[in-house]
Amino acid sequence: MANTILVGAQWGDEGKGKIIDVLTGQADIVVRTQGGNNAGHTVFLGPKKYVLHLVPSGILRKKKICVIGNGVVVDPVNLVEEIRGLIRLGIKVDGNLLISETSHLVFPYHRELDEQREILKGKNKIGTTKRGIGPAYGDKAARTGLRMIDLINAERFADKLELKIKENNEILKAFGAKPLSFKSVHAAYRTAGDYLKPFVADTVVFLHHACQRGKNILFEGAQGTFLDIDHGTYPFVTSSNTTAGGACTGSGVPPHRMDRVVGVMKAYTTRVGEGPLPSENDEIADLLHSMGREFGATTGRARRCGWFDAVATRHATMVNGIDELAVTNLDGLDSLETIKVCVGYRIGSKRYEYVPSDIELFSRCEPVYVEFPGWQTPTSKIRKWKDLPARARSYLKAIAELSGAKLTIASVGPAREQTIFV
Ligand code: GDP
Ligand code: IMO
Ligand code: MG
Repeated sequence: MANTILVGAQWGDEGKGKIIDVLTGQADIVVRTQGGNNAGHTVFLGPKKYVLHLVPSGILRKKKICVIGNGVVVDPVNLVEEIRGLIRLGIKVDGNLLISETSHLVFPYHRELDEQREILKGKNKIGTTKRGIGPAYGDKAARTGLRMIDLINAERFADKLELKIKENNEILKAFGAKPLSFKSVHAAYRTAGDYLKPFVADTVVFLHHACQRGKNILFEGAQGTFLDIDHGTYPFVTSSNTTAGGACTGSGVPPHRMDRVVGVMKAYTTRVGEGPLPSENDEIADLLHSMGREFGATTGRARRCGWFDAVATRHATMVNGIDELAVTNLDGLDSLETIKVCVGYRIGSKRYEYVPSDIELFSRCEPVYVEFPGWQTPTSKIRKWKDLPARARSYLKAIAELSGAKLTIASVGPAREQTIFV
């Protein structure tokens, strides 16, 4: 398969988990490289539903090694719960999971600060997942974070945590929030540390050797291009590099080892959280929500929905270097008579072909649509490209062309077998 970076080409929740599960068949190793348990990746195996937050989705396949890379922020108590949950569902998690010793830790004060800052922002809030992701990356950048290597070293951990709790309690008090007890945080984290210790490794060296031995590595993207801290719709973004470059820095695997980039996108657009969404539309939102679809895998929030935004996916192809496209949720559009695609933005007479980086401008952008005739035929049982309705094929070809990359996968349902290779 060669080394593959998989990224979300929209605002997250593109169906990456499903496509990762499909592609893991050809991979030896699956690596998460950034983000934390703000991610929620859904995979169906038969009737069983799995939602992965920190553990790479590759864990559901036998004989694959999964790695939580150095670029990820890990809430260790949460990770232990997730691992235990998977074991209860009959999934093997022991020698097949490695956690980077330099991954940073998320603490209860990060979660509390995340919440307090959102309250303070009021109507300008980001709509975060309240998992403490921003404050944890903030500590990392300020060089005041604690890492996995600290957690598994009992003595070092106690000293460092005590200082951090002291500092953060002052900040929490200023927000009018309840201070944390060192004793109880320490106890919970040490218990988690003891549980996780056997998984902790130098994953950079592990991945280097794997590359030398010709292993196939799949880099599991989390979030999406427009949630990237540099390339997204700042400040309505997450706090990490969700684009392809993040796979290198977040794993220690150098760029020249990467062979291809696969961009995952829905056949329409969704976003959860605040921030502009030019092609947002009530008709498609009502349709999808009435089908019980598009509710967040992590927070359960209803996702905002809109028409396919080709300006955004074109921009995503540019910043990620997307070679191949996997389009998911085609079946969501099955019933529509007419389907709109946003092919450009405009403000007055000025037209934009890429997403403007100034959020003020972006929020004033009006979508320019072209219309496609719907196929009004169920697609979820179709397995071959040639069996798709001609109008569905035309739609897929058009959105791939507008996005500027080659269509290689079309997905017509959440299950592994509901996948069409083009
Ligand atoms: P991720 O964060 O990118 O992994 O995506 P999520 O798991 O948060 O959300 C994607 C949702 O779409 C999940 O409920 C998937 O089971 C579902 N899904 C993925 N591909 C398809 C598809 O082709 N058709 C349908 N109906 N559902 C899909
Ligand atoms: P997956 O991997 C969709 C969004 C939040 C919010 C913003 C910042 O499942 O695609 P954060 O908690 O990260 O500080 O929130 O980013 N967000 C996601 N939206 N899918 C995700 O992950 C997301 N992870 C974060 O809703 O708007
Ligand atoms: Mg998700």
